[in-house]
Amino acid sequence: MHSDLRKRATQILVDNDRGGYTVPTPRLYPYQWNWDSAFAALGFSVFDRQRAWLELETLFEGQWADGMVPHIIFRRDDPDYFPGPAIWQSGTNPPSSCHSQPPVVASIIRHLVDTGGPADREKAAALFPKVLAWHNWFHTMRDPDGNGTVAIIHPWESGRDNCPDWDIGLERIDVPEDLGRYERRDTERVDADERPTSLEYDRYLTILKFGRECRWDQREIARNGPFFMADPGIQFILLRADRDLLYLATELALEDGLEQIDRWIARSVDGCGNYWNDRIGCFCARDLRSGRFSDAMTSISMLAFYAGAGTPGQRARLVEHAHAILDRCRYGFPSWDPRNGKFESKRYWRGPVWAMVNYMIVQGLTECGETALADRIKADTLKLIEKSGFREYFDPITGEGHGGRNFTWTAAIYLMWSATEQTSQAA
Ligand code: GLC
Repeated sequence: MHSDLRKRATQILVDNDRGGYTVPTPRLYPYQWNWDSAFAALGFSVFDRQRAWLELETLFEGQWADGMVPHIIFRRDDPDYFPGPAIWQSGTNPPSSCHSQPPVVASIIRHLVDTGGPADREKAAALFPKVLAWHNWFHTMRDPDGNGTVAIIHPWESGRDNCPDWDIGLERIDVPEDLGRYERRDTERVDADERPTSLEYDRYLTILKFGRECRWDQREIARNGPFFMADPGIQFILLRADRDLLYLATELALEDGLEQIDRWIARSVDGCGNYWNDRIGCFCARDLRSGRFSDAMTSISMLAFYAGAGTPGQRARLVEHAHAILDRCRYGFPSWDPRNGKFESKRYWRGPVWAMVNYMIVQGLTECGETALADRIKADTLKLIEKSGFREYFDPITGEGHGGRNFTWTAAIYLMWSATEQTSQAA
């Protein structure tokens, strides 16, 4: 891997630092985002471990009293971003958005502990109860029936904003006449044909209106809100994070929560069955109001390996799909199956490749012995960055970069992989 790219990646993290937290990219996303910060910490850990921990500590400054860690923390109002704090109306300090995002933090903490020393263990022990409270929030507020299926109340909660997975849930939302006029800011910075459509945006804001009107009563939103879907991404990432939290509890001799985490894991392993779409042979999103499945494979379906989920037969089907999909792309792994009519190679989560999803896919495949697939996906990610720079996401067919530039998580994954390569060369 190129040392000038390594330098560039380091510089991006330093430049995107706003004093204790990192923005995903300047202007387009001017605040602290949840899973972006987790990956930023992974990147910082390569050259500044203190800073890596600080990224996670500042993220938890936004934690709500009920344990939720919001998807955006608004430390100051920035007119460059819509929808900002005035639209969310969280009533918290600092102000924040009012739903969460994929909980990768516990898995990143495990990485920091595994690669660190006593100071890292101390930091991990201090954060542990906060992470435990957050996982508890997911298992109660987003799985109100306790059946091991952890849901989302907004496509943004999945972190895969406009993936076709959510179309079946969004289609059911009628946009009210009194939604009000609003001005998007994202399409001023990125081509509109790479971003969600206007109708999608109206529906996103309809969910926010419901949330505001019930003062973000999370039980009410799960029971009666306009959108409630099971996301294999949240399910798999949380299951993996629960396993890593259990590991940390044992490793750091923290008794609190051991049994509870065990129960969550057992329940989630069972719950994964609810995501299996037999018609196409894949783990898919599901609308919990209608029971309807989304109908194509995504990059997130591949996280079954990362979660340690699925039967041997189910995993074999995923591997078959993965090969068929990669045969159609120059660069894997696309966020939506190119064999399906809704595939759009440039539009955000409807086709493009995302480096941090690939990082998790590669980790899971490697652990499960699927090394050929893992190597292909890792090599593709590196080629994309070498060809097109540290962009937000990439076209799986042409390899062009799109969305934001100098993107934190793309830089972080590059740094992470180059650090492990250096370690293995030295060994
Ligand atoms: C977009 C992505 C989301 C990410 C955020 C900041 O909303 O879909 O996953 O966290 O941008 O990068």
